[in-house]
Amino acid sequence: MEKKALCFLIFLQLLLLNQCSARSNPMNSYKDAVSSPPVQLHRLPDNVVMDNGLAQITLTIPGGMIAGIEYKGIKNLLEYEYGSEYRGYWDLVWINGGNSTADRLNTTHFSVIAEDENKVELSFTRTWNPSTPNLPPMNIDKRYVMLRGSTGFYTYSIFERLGGMPATIISQTRVAFKLSEKLFHYMAISDNRQRYMPTREDREPSRSVQLAYPEARQLTNPSNPSFKGEVDDKFQYSKDNKDNVVHGWISDENGVGFWVITPSYEFRSGGPFKQELTSHTGPISLATFFSNHYSGDELNLHFGKGEAWKKVYGPVFIYLNSASTKKINDLHSTLWTDAKHQALIEQQSWPYSFPLSNDYPHADRRGTVRGRLQVRDRYLNQGLINAEFAFVGLAPVGDELSWQRESKGYQFWNQTDATGNFLLKGVRSGTYNLYATVPGHIGRYAYKLNINITPGSAIQLGDLIHDSPRFGPTLWEIGIPDGTAAEFHIPDARLINKLYINHDKFRQYGLWERYTDLYPKNDLVYNVGSSNYSKDWFFSQVTRKIKDEYHPTTWQITFDLPHVIASRNYTLQLALASSNLAHLRVYVNTSPAKGNPVFTTTEIGQDNAIARHGIHGLYWLFSVQIPGRTLVVGRNNIFLNHRSSSIPFAGIMYDYIRLEGPPTL
Ligand SMILES: *[C@@H]1O[C@H](CO)[C@@H](O)[C@H](O)[C@H]1NC(C)=O
Ligand SMILES: *[C@@H]1O[C@H](CO)[C@@H](O)[C@H](O)[C@H]1NC(C)=O
Ligand SMILES: *[C@@H]1O[C@H](CO)[C@@H](O)[C@H](O)[C@H]1NC(C)=O
Ligand SMILES: *[C@@H]1O[C@H](CO)[C@@H](O)[C@H](O)[C@H]1NC(C)=O
Ligand SMILES: *[C@@H]1O[C@H](CO)[C@@H](O)[C@H](O)[C@H]1NC(C)=O
Repeated sequence: MEKKALCFLIFLQLLLLNQCSARSNPMNSYKDAVSSPPVQLHRLPDNVVMDNGLAQITLTIPGGMIAGIEYKGIKNLLEYEYGSEYRGYWDLVWINGGNSTADRLNTTHFSVIAEDENKVELSFTRTWNPSTPNLPPMNIDKRYVMLRGSTGFYTYSIFERLGGMPATIISQTRVAFKLSEKLFHYMAISDNRQRYMPTREDREPSRSVQLAYPEARQLTNPSNPSFKGEVDDKFQYSKDNKDNVVHGWISDENGVGFWVITPSYEFRSGGPFKQELTSHTGPISLATFFSNHYSGDELNLHFGKGEAWKKVYGPVFIYLNSASTKKINDLHSTLWTDAKHQALIEQQSWPYSFPLSNDYPHADRRGTVRGRLQVRDRYLNQGLINAEFAFVGLAPVGDELSWQRESKGYQFWNQTDATGNFLLKGVRSGTYNLYATVPGHIGRYAYKLNINITPGSAIQLGDLIHDSPRFGPTLWEIGIPDGTAAEFHIPDARLINKLYINHDKFRQYGLWERYTDLYPKNDLVYNVGSSNYSKDWFFSQVTRKIKDEYHPTTWQITFDLPHVIASRNYTLQLALASSNLAHLRVYVNTSPAKGNPVFTTTEIGQDNAIARHGIHGLYWLFSVQIPGRTLVVGRNNIFLNHRSSSIPFAGIMYDYIRLEGPPTL
C-alpha cells in the first residue's frame, strides 16, 4: 500500500478510535495488551473455550471444530441451528477411489501447546493409518491460537504425508464459517463489492430456480422482495490471491463485524492471479487455501504412492470488530475501514512471531531477495524499460508459467516500484526460481538459476532483464497485454446481480449466451483501423448456441498491408487470458472450410473462467510464425477458429493480439 493511503488509514483510525473495538497488534500484543485481561483456557467435558475477555472461542474436543464464537454479549456469531460440528471447520476434498469426497478433518487427539496469560495455542491431530482407507492419506495438525488483547483468533494447519502412504489427489482445502442467519445480512469483500445478500432459504427451490449449474440460482420469491429476479452465485464473489486479504460480514442490529484476514498468500496455490471464493450467501465466509477453481485439474495436489510432503496452511486471522454508531452507512464504512486497517497490521506483522509449530518458521529463519527488473522490447524502445509495478515472485523450480499450476510448495510475491526494484521478504528456506509478470508486456519472466534460501539469507540479484517475446515491429495490435480480457466488449447481462451494474460487468451471470444474441448468424469480424476493441471485440470467443447445440465459432481479423516480404516470416503474438476445452486454429487468407491452418493447438485448458465469471483464468502465449508468402499486398484475413467441446462454457479469452513484421533490427 502506498504511504499516502497508509497515513490516511491511520488518520481514519484515530477518528474512529472511540467508536471501534480495541485493535490488536500481533507483534506487540504482549506490550499493548497489559490492560487487557489474561487469556484463559476453560476445560469442559466436550469442549474447550479460549477466552481473552474480548471474545470466547469454543472448540470441540478432540474433533477441533469451531462450535462457538462469543463476542460483545452475542452468544454465538455462528449459526446455532447447525450442530456444534457444522458451524466452523477445516475441510478438504479428495478423490477417494474415483469419487470426489469432502472430509471435515475431524481429529482424534487434543493437546495444549501453550497456555499462559498472554497466549493459548491448541493442537488437534489425526494420524492416518492403513486401517482408515476412507480418510485422505495424510496426517493433520489443526492449530488454534488466541492472544491477549486480540479481538479474534488465529488458525493454521500442518498437513503431512509420510513415505509409504498411498497415492491420492486433493482438490481443495479451506476453513468454512457458517455465520448466524439471524445476525448477518450485509457482506463486504472489497471497497466496491458490498451488498445486502439473499438468505440461505432464498436459494431453496420454493424461492428460486437453478440456472445453468447448481451454484447459480435466480431468485424468484426472495425474502427481501427487492432482490426478485436477481442471480445469486458464489463465484460472483471470487478474488485474485493478490487482492484476497480481507472479506466478511456485518450485523446491522448488533453493530458487529466478522472478518477473514489472510495476511500472506505464501501458502496458497497458483500465485497472485489465482482466484478463490471468499464470502457468499449462507451467510458463509471461507478461508480458501487452495482449490482447482479457475485453473483445473493441473492445480490439484497429485501425490504418487509413497510421496512425502508437508505444508503449513495459514495462519489466517478471524477478526471481530464492533461500532456503536446507529447510522447504517456509517456502521458499514466504519467496520469495513477498520477491518482493512487490521488486515494491514496483520500483513505488516508477517511472518508472525507467535505460532509454535516448528514447521512455521519465524522471521529469523527466513530470508530476503532483492533486485531490479527491466524489460527489453527493442521494437518499442531502444533502451531498457523499467518493469513498473510488475509482480515478481519466488516459486518452486519450473518454467515461465509453472507457478500458475503449482500447489505443493510455497510462493512469495511482491510488486516492483516504478523503477522496477523489488523486495521479497519472509522467504522460507528452500530452492526457488524467480518469476515475473510485467503489465504492458507479453510473455512471462523466469530467472533460471536456482535461488537457495537458508535462514538469514539476504540475496541481491542485481539487474534482471525480461526479454518480452518479440520478432519484429508492430504492424497492428488488439487489446492491452495485462493478462485479462477486461478491456474488451463486455455485454449487458440478461439476468443480473445488481452489485455489478456499474462496475465489474464481467461478473454477471450468463454472458456466454450473449454472443449468440449479438452474432446470431455471422461471427465477429474485426477490421484493423476502423474497429475499436472495447466495442467490437467480444471478451470471450465462445460457442454459438443453435437449437440447444453449441457450435464452433470462427473470428476474422481483416487488415491491409502496403507491402509484403514473401521470403520472411511475420509473427502473430496470441496471448490468451483463459482457455477452456478449446482447440485453437489460425488460418491466414483461407477460411477453415477451404484451407489448412498455419497453427493449431491441441485441446487446451480447463480453467472454466467463462462459467465462473472470471475475466481471466490461466495465461497462455503462442508466437505463431506466418510465412510471408501466405500474405498479400492489400487486404488480408486471419481466421481464429476454435473447435471446442459442444458445451456453453468452452472457449477462449484473448488477452492481447499483435502482428509483427519480419525482423528489421
Ligand atoms: C464411488 O462411487 C460409486 C458410485 O456411487 C460407488 O459404487 C463406489 O463404491 C465409490 N467408491 C468408493 C471408493 O467409495
Ligand atoms: C467426529 O468423530 C467423532 C468420534 O469418532 C464422531 O462422534 C463425530 O460424529 C465425528 N464428526 C464428524 C463431523 O465427522
Ligand atoms: C513488498 O515490497 C515493499 C516495498 O519494497 C516492502 O515494503 C514490503 O515489505 C514487501 N513485502 C513483502 C512481503 O515482501
Ligand atoms: C473506443 O471505444 C471506447 C468505448 O466506447 C471509447 O471510449 C474510445 O474512445 C474508443 N477509441 C477510439 C480510438 O475511438
Ligand atoms: C519461418 O518459421 C518457420 C516455423 O517456425 C521456420 O521453420 C522457418 O525457418 C522460418 N523461416 C524464416 C525465413 O525465418
